[in-house]
Amino acid sequence: MKKDCLKAIAIDGPAGSGKSTLAQRLAQSLQFFYLDTGAMYRALALHATRLGLAEDDGEGIAQQAKQIEISFEMRDQAQRTLLNGEDVSEAIRRPEISSLASKISVFSPVRKALVAQQRAFASRAEGIVAEGRDTTTVVFPDACLRLFLTASPETRARRRFQEWQARGIDTPYEQVLAEIKERDLRDSSRADSPLQQAEGVILIENDHLDVDQTVQLALQYWQRAMA
Ligand code: DC
Repeated sequence: MKKDCLKAIAIDGPAGSGKSTLAQRLAQSLQFFYLDTGAMYRALALHATRLGLAEDDGEGIAQQAKQIEISFEMRDQAQRTLLNGEDVSEAIRRPEISSLASKISVFSPVRKALVAQQRAFASRAEGIVAEGRDTTTVVFPDACLRLFLTASPETRARRRFQEWQARGIDTPYEQVLAEIKERDLRDSSRADSPLQQAEGVILIENDHLDVDQTVQLALQYWQRAMA
């Protein structure tokens, strides 16, 4: 068993790449804690909206990041996101919160505050599967396994479109695709912790893989990493 690395799987990738599904399945299979770092940016974005903070008020939003408590809880086999104890799992998935989360995540003080909380989750867990945009590069560069999961913008937009339809959100496919591309550009071109496939991070392109195949592949990489 490898000892010089953190007992963690870090998964980064763009919106709609299937990171959350993969991370949850891996966490379930390995009995690790599942950390959805995007949910933390989303919860903070929701909190900022409720307070009426301007979206360019990086300092004010970072101050709030230090004061709020974001936690996770399992209910009926699904992980829920809590903001100061309130279940905000549905509210943070609204399209306008997706966009605001991406906008506030460009501010370094905001990132610093949330990264500290993300590392604290790892220090309390036996093993962790974390997913986001900078978990392989900034948050857990010492993870035993680091994956970059992606698919074409069209594949990812199709998945998001179907997900939203199922939840009764009626946004045209073309708009979903445009928003995905806009978010990709912002997330990967920002100065602090841009989304990127760093050296040593294993690439999985899953346009032609279903969920089970992606999970199996990742588990093989994990077994190899720990051998
Ligand atoms: O993974 P997601 O779609 O829930 O993330 C929402 C936004 O949060 C994403 O557009 C960028 C930001 N984010 C980030 O900057 N760093 C992370 N580790 C996770 C998310």
